[in-house]
Amino acid sequence: MNTSPIIIAVAAVTIDGKIALHAGHSTDWTSSEDKDFLHGLLDKSDVIVVGNNTYKVAQKPLAKRNCVVFTHSVRTTARQHDNLLFCNPSGVDIRTILSPYKTVAVLGGTQTYTYFLENDLLNELYLTIEPLVFGRGLNIFESMTAKEVKFHLFSVKKLNRKGSILLYYRIV
Ligand SMILES: NC(=O)c1ccc[n+]([C@@H]2O[C@H](COP(=O)([O-])OP(=O)(O)OC[C@H]3O[C@@H](n4cnc5c(N)ncnc54)[C@H](OP(=O)(O)O)[C@@H]3O)[C@@H](O)[C@H]2O)c1
Repeated sequence: MNTSPIIIAVAAVTIDGKIALHAGHSTDWTSSEDKDFLHGLLDKSDVIVVGNNTYKVAQKPLAKRNCVVFTHSVRTTARQHDNLLFCNPSGVDIRTILSPYKTVAVLGGTQTYTYFLENDLLNELYLTIEPLVFGRGLNIFESMTAKEVKFHLFSVKKLNRKGSILLYYRIV
């Protein structure tokens, strides 16, 4: 019998709350300690959900992972191979697509994090704040309408001496 998975968003942000400078920007600016944390979390996840822009930026490292890629280019779903499903969430019930899994990691970017937030699908958020500022760029969440969601802080961990901070929240 399928039960609801735990859905965990994981993101690295700058001090000004940006996840990237633009849609084609890679995450080469995050600390090695954050990368170690991220890879450990992805190793423990049964599936990773990404938007197509993030997939294009990170296609090589994601190739070994089980991925669902959001895109408008399919009507419902299209399986590319065993570990890669293209999915248009407006054409399918995303809860049903994710129901076979215990742990789902939502890896972004903005549009994908926002879809999960707006549809009340998120359970947890790991947020690393890296000690730098972009001054412009993509926000982690960007809703068309106001959306207030309360998070409960469970832990704070300093990852390194330069001051990368890992925050762990659950949605209450
Ligand atoms: N700092 C971090 O932790 C972090 C994490 C992840 C990503 N990023 C960065 O974020 C940037 C990309 O963010 P982004 O907001 O541009 O893109 P994104 O969410 O990665 O991808 C957007 C694309 O995904 C598809 N998509 C997203 N939501 C959809 C929906 N509800 N229905 C159908 N298709 C949907 C669409 O693809 P189609 O165009 O194919 O229709 C859309 O153009 C990159 O620079 C990446 O490096 C940073």
